[in-house]
Amino acid sequence: LILLTGAAGKTGRAVMRHLAGRGCAVRAWVRSPAQVDPLKRLGATEVVIADLRDPRAALGAVRGVEAIYGICPNMSVDEEAIGGSLIAAARSVDARLVYHSVLLPRVEAMPHHWRKAQVEDALEASGIAWTVLQPAAYMQNLLQHRESIAESGVLPVPYSESAEVAMVDLEDVAVVAGRVLIESGHEGEKYELCASEIMNPKGIARVLSTYLGSRVVVREIPRGHWRESARRSGVSEQAIEDLISMFEYYERHGLAGSPDDLERLLTRPPGTLSDFLARELPTGP
Ligand SMILES: NC(=O)c1ccc[n+]([C@@H]2O[C@H](COP(=O)([O-])OP(=O)(O)OC[C@H]3O[C@@H](n4cnc5c(N)ncnc54)[C@H](OP(=O)(O)O)[C@@H]3O)[C@@H](O)[C@H]2O)c1
Repeated sequence: LILLTGAAGKTGRAVMRHLAGRGCAVRAWVRSPAQVDPLKRLGATEVVIADLRDPRAALGAVRGVEAIYGICPNMSVDEEAIGGSLIAAARSVDARLVYHSVLLPRVEAMPHHWRKAQVEDALEASGIAWTVLQPAAYMQNLLQHRESIAESGVLPVPYSESAEVAMVDLEDVAVVAGRVLIESGHEGEKYELCASEIMNPKGIARVLSTYLGSRVVVREIPRGHWRESARRSGVSEQAIEDLISMFEYYERHGLAGSPDDLERLLTRPPGTLSDFLARELPTGP
């Protein structure tokens, strides 16, 4: 039995689908009752509804569990506390904890990456059996721009069109999650999960243009405008500031990683952006 936290989110659903496809028994941890039926339809054996910030709930959620796939809420200031209670819960039942981190967590200039580095440190000091997955930015994030691409052929980005940012197909991440949860031999390992090609937004727009057969151009959005639009969409002030820090880092340094771990764990080349587009946008955006 595997406990999957953050199960109703973008990452959680992908991992859930994959684990169900492999015939695994999964206890999905969600936040609200409305998420129970969708998770059961995705193949969850059991669903627990609780707040991830409640350490007692974590101790209850791990009963009978052999492994935990720990996904923290996106941009959460509580990541260290949640990580800490998942570690304590894993210890209480002697379960393995696979922690969903991020590529280059040890960058203090990106606070939400840095918080994941603190959880990684806590895992290393914990004495429990752990594995860390460090995924690059998901290709799936591009889907938020479907409308803009379809209506005006514009890919908007709040950083330089030359910033090289590693990406990964979330479906590949889910395959690796399944493998490290089920197999032994991954204890104490950290795996970077990146596709083979690192592109800048200009390169992404070129691939989109070729795939769609119509011109897609990058538009750099001033970060002040991006901030206002994020506020209008209800994004919290803390998440906005953390994301702005990430855009500034991308602009200055990009986000680099190696595809070697992913290729070895998949035993095939990682999915490319073209593969991703053909699967997700078979009839265009
Ligand atoms: N996006 C990327 O490119 C990327 C790359 C690498 C790593 N990551 C990491 O992947 C993780 C998951 O990201 P995601 O995009 O899948 O997030 P997401 O779609 O926002 O999913 C997070 C889930 O956690 C739930 N949640 C939030 N607060 C909770 C709480 N207090 N108690 C219980 N559940 C709670 C949310 O519930 P609701 O559905 O009710 O909001 C949601 O279902 C993050 O840690 C992120 O840093 C993301």
